[in-house]
Amino acid sequence: MKLNPFALERYFAKYEFSTRYLLSSSDCDGLLQSEVVAMADDETKTLWESLTLGYTESLGHPLLREEIAKLYQGVSAEDCLVVTPEEGIFIAANTILEKGDHVICTYPGYQSLYEVAEGIGCEVTKWQPQEADGWRFDPAFLEAAIRPNTKLIVVNFPHNPTGYLPSKADYARIVQLAQAHGITLFSDEMYRFLEYDPAHRLPSASEEYDKAVCLFGMSKTFGLAGARLGWLVTKDQDLYHKMAAFKDYTTICSSAPSEILALIALRARDTIVDRHLTRISRNLALLDAFFDRHGDKFAWVRPRAGTIAFPRLLGEVSALAFCQDVMAQADIMLLPSTVYGYDDAHFRLGFGRENMPEALERLDGYLGALDQDIRTG
Ligand SMILES: Cc1ncc(COP(=O)(O)O)c(C=O)c1O
Repeated sequence: MKLNPFALERYFAKYEFSTRYLLSSSDCDGLLQSEVVAMADDETKTLWESLTLGYTESLGHPLLREEIAKLYQGVSAEDCLVVTPEEGIFIAANTILEKGDHVICTYPGYQSLYEVAEGIGCEVTKWQPQEADGWRFDPAFLEAAIRPNTKLIVVNFPHNPTGYLPSKADYARIVQLAQAHGITLFSDEMYRFLEYDPAHRLPSASEEYDKAVCLFGMSKTFGLAGARLGWLVTKDQDLYHKMAAFKDYTTICSSAPSEILALIALRARDTIVDRHLTRISRNLALLDAFFDRHGDKFAWVRPRAGTIAFPRLLGEVSALAFCQDVMAQADIMLLPSTVYGYDDAHFRLGFGRENMPEALERLDGYLGALDQDIRTG
């Protein structure tokens, strides 16, 4: 299999650890390990203190799989396979797809969601949203794109990078289309539980459709990206066992400390998620005011969930040049839409971090200096 470089990851690798202000990260701040351990109940405290660093159970720690299943309605631990999130995409694509299959994937998006399929030799139709319609992914496009050899539909809601969340009616239509055609649905739900209005939360596709495979994990919503821990959920037991067998060729089993940390954090879900939603809501209010002030420079579609948004630069400004200049002048990392292979007019903003107000103030200062330069010629 030939895979193109993962442009977004390469960009992050170059700048993430050398730039002072990260204003495009998609995760919430990493929790302190000591803080997670302090949240343990009696059972998980014992598990942590008596942890041995041997191999772990390939499907995942039984208690962790039970805890994961509790996030869903009608899902049991037997439907949950512990993986690293990115690994989950690789495993699912390699298990489901063969050369020549047709795949439909939301786009722009997290590159591996379509890149792995292309690497396998599939033809991928990219399903693009309408920015003018709040970044809506119109199910009518999906319906028209389905072919006799469509093997997989890939969606990612809440969406990276726009923060779009479909209406319940649109989402039901997407699931219904997959169902009506017997097509497997891969639903990347990495930003689930970060809906700003809980009433907007969608059911997990695994709750709605037996041939759905869902991806979720600890990286974004929980702020445990460094644990490298996530899971796949499917009620299709045949597919489940095939994916579990494929894992023997990737990581075999998950990291022992990460499994226990994830278990503790899942049991403290309300505390952690409430804290993150409070921060996100504070940061979003600042962003609303920022885009109000700079309405002459940016077009802003307010996201509906998650930690990221995808504003557009007005005028003939290159997003890549803008992001590079912001980094050089203000030490702030923004992510140009070119890393999504999308266009050169948008950039990704991340607002899951505690120091985001400071970074935004600095960006304000940068823009003020630009205006000053233009005025003074
Ligand atoms: C939509 C989406 N899916 C999957 C992943 C992979 O998650 P991880 O980096 O924890 O492996 C990411 C990470 O950015 C993502 O944004």
